[in-house]
Amino acid sequence: MPRLFDGLELPASADFHVHLRQGAMMETVTPTITSGGVDTVYVMPNLIPPITTPAQAVEYKSRLQALAPDVTFLMSLYLHPSITPSIVREAKATGAIHGIKSYPAGVTTNSSSGVVDYESFYPVFAAMEEEGLVLNLHGELPPSQSPSAPEDQITVLNAEAAFLPTLRSLHTRFPNLRIVLEHCTTKAAVDMVLSISSPNVVGTITAHHLSLIVDDWAGDPLNFCKPVAKLPSDRIALLRAAVDPRRKFFLGTDSAPHPLRSKQGRSGTAGNDNSCGKCAAGVFTQPYATQLVLEALEEAVSKGILREEDVRREGVLEGFWARRGGGSMVCRRVSGG
Ligand code: NCD
Ligand code: ZN
Repeated sequence: MPRLFDGLELPASADFHVHLRQGAMMETVTPTITSGGVDTVYVMPNLIPPITTPAQAVEYKSRLQALAPDVTFLMSLYLHPSITPSIVREAKATGAIHGIKSYPAGVTTNSSSGVVDYESFYPVFAAMEEEGLVLNLHGELPPSQSPSAPEDQITVLNAEAAFLPTLRSLHTRFPNLRIVLEHCTTKAAVDMVLSISSPNVVGTITAHHLSLIVDDWAGDPLNFCKPVAKLPSDRIALLRAAVDPRRKFFLGTDSAPHPLRSKQGRSGTAGNDNSCGKCAAGVFTQPYATQLVLEALEEAVSKGILREEDVRREGVLEGFWARRGGGSMVCRRVSGG
């Protein structure tokens, strides 16, 4: 039976959230970007130590570029107390750095130097607003930060929804700051981004959250990431958001490779500050980034979650890949079908 996307040619995708690591892992992963149908990546800064200076980011970029000369690498800094308004300006002046990523302290892989209190960064956000640097938010509230619920009410299932008032208040305070709510996993996050009409607030959606739900990671560490995949109703909201004509959402795979022993909780290893006995958070999808999205959309159409015309509408897929025209790339199927 013909499948929805058989024969489809698409422009090469941009992937706005990737973890390319360092050392041997970086050397293994970086060359796989193009096999995922991607030619532009926005690179996360949560190395060990995190990338907190423009010089580190520029140096990291040159290492990545040597491994994948045809890929465009958009670099980011790690939001950290050492970042000041003058560093923001210096970062902008490099031309290589496009944003700053905020990790709430302790919620995910390599986030131990992350943000505890957003208010102390207001001068930094003001400088970013002026310079046009993007604020990339890992949108999960750590258990100890809950303003509305008792601390022990925050879990991996509601941490994203509990973070959403912070997103709204940052946007209210800095309306010209470009904010990306990274790796949305809930209907609540989709609704919040859609409810903010300003084009300055958008969201990324990963490839894997278009297909995984909570049952897929409960008991399977390879499917465990932060934020965790949620309920079937959340997955439906993400699928609809990916093809939403308002185009507030685009692909950021959050491809996050870990050594197998870290995924199995057997040891904390270089590039990963998870403690021994805990499964490292992160799902690796880089070589199949675009293909996984197409598979998920195709399945959603076959199940009646999306209509064929939702997916085929002119510019929808290109919009999700953040592309209009440009070079084309034909993706190999994950399953080879
Ligand atoms: C990411 C990683 O492994 O660096 N892990 C993850 O589960 N997504 C960090 C992150 O983006 O949260
Ligand atoms: Zn990530």
